[in-house]
Amino acid sequence: MKALVHAEKAGFEGLKFRDFNKLEPKEGEVVVKLKAAGLNHRDLFILNRHKPTDPPLIIGSDGAGVIDSVGAGVTNVKIGEEVIINPSLGWQKNSDAPPSGFEIVGLPYHGTFAEYIVIPAENAVSKPAYLSWEEAGVLSLAALTAYRALFTRGKVQSGMKVLIPGIGSGVATFLLQFAKAAGAKVYVTSRSQEKREKALQLGADKAIDSNNDDWESMLDGEKVDLAIESVGAATFNKTLDQLRLGGTMVTFGASAGDVVDFDLRKFFYGQYNLLGTTMGSSEEYVEMLQFIEKNQIRPVLDRTFSLSQFESAFSRMEKAEQLGKIGFIIEE
Ligand SMILES: NC(=O)c1ccc[n+]([C@@H]2O[C@H](COP(=O)([O-])OP(=O)(O)OC[C@H]3O[C@@H](n4cnc5c(N)ncnc54)[C@H](OP(=O)(O)O)[C@@H]3O)[C@@H](O)[C@H]2O)c1
Repeated sequence: MKALVHAEKAGFEGLKFRDFNKLEPKEGEVVVKLKAAGLNHRDLFILNRHKPTDPPLIIGSDGAGVIDSVGAGVTNVKIGEEVIINPSLGWQKNSDAPPSGFEIVGLPYHGTFAEYIVIPAENAVSKPAYLSWEEAGVLSLAALTAYRALFTRGKVQSGMKVLIPGIGSGVATFLLQFAKAAGAKVYVTSRSQEKREKALQLGADKAIDSNNDDWESMLDGEKVDLAIESVGAATFNKTLDQLRLGGTMVTFGASAGDVVDFDLRKFFYGQYNLLGTTMGSSEEYVEMLQFIEKNQIRPVLDRTFSLSQFESAFSRMEKAEQLGKIGFIIEE
């Protein structure tokens, strides 16, 4: 089969679209013939985390397709069933944090940027019928992360004001749609005028320039109850400054740097809450699918590429040109 494989060289240089042995399912596993997959920022970070001395790895966390074969003991899905892949491995029940042994599809185990993938049967979940293959293929990782960040951790309520910096991000576009569906007022930031305009069309109540240093004036002096921050060092303090006293910031990403300085005294006098989050459990995955179906939410699809065009897809994300999800159509 054809796959996007990382091997032998660190970084982007080690990524090749090439032949790879089709894998067989063991007991409790299924093989999915993939129709579509989705790119996440994680796939860029992984090119440096997966070492040249490690065995070759098919990358990719998001995908949807058809069950091609099943291993012994599998009862939850049948050959021919249309499924979407839950990329959270080993985190079944809701809990404060993932259990030890939790992993994400695409490292250390083979991922979705291939014609076929082998996964535990419980990670193959019925595809929501109203979503196209492309929409289902790009959904999982970002929508699950957004769901847990906003509902489980952020405890969003109708009428709350929510700030989402870096709306170009795939996760951020889900956060915007989920928070609006929950009845919140949503303010977003972006460095791009075009993305700010698109965010307003998607339902954002205000869209301001991330690079402007005076977010408070741009938000007409309004503070927010909840901020969901994934940009990292470039916006962390500006986001924190926009919280109302006692407000909450949930953080799960650091595209623009992992390390920040912040003013402890200002933080504790302000009685702020800072919460970390990452991905989500299988229970949250099912809740998220029910939520999107009930609200008829579809991923914001930026562009789709074939796997052989991976260089263009990765470059588009590297340069942050996208708004929403970049997809791969997986050809026969
Ligand atoms: N912990 C988890 O479970 C988890 C899960 C999913 C994602 N993540 C992390 O969350 C982040 C977003 O993921 P994604 O896949 O949605 O990423 P993405 O699509 O690549 O989006 C990143 C966005 O961040 C903004 N940004 C980047 N650098 C910036 C800078 N210097 N200044 C201001 N804004 C900047 C940009 O928004 P504009 O273009 O609008 O300016 C950009 O589009 C990544 O760091 C990812 O690793 C973590």
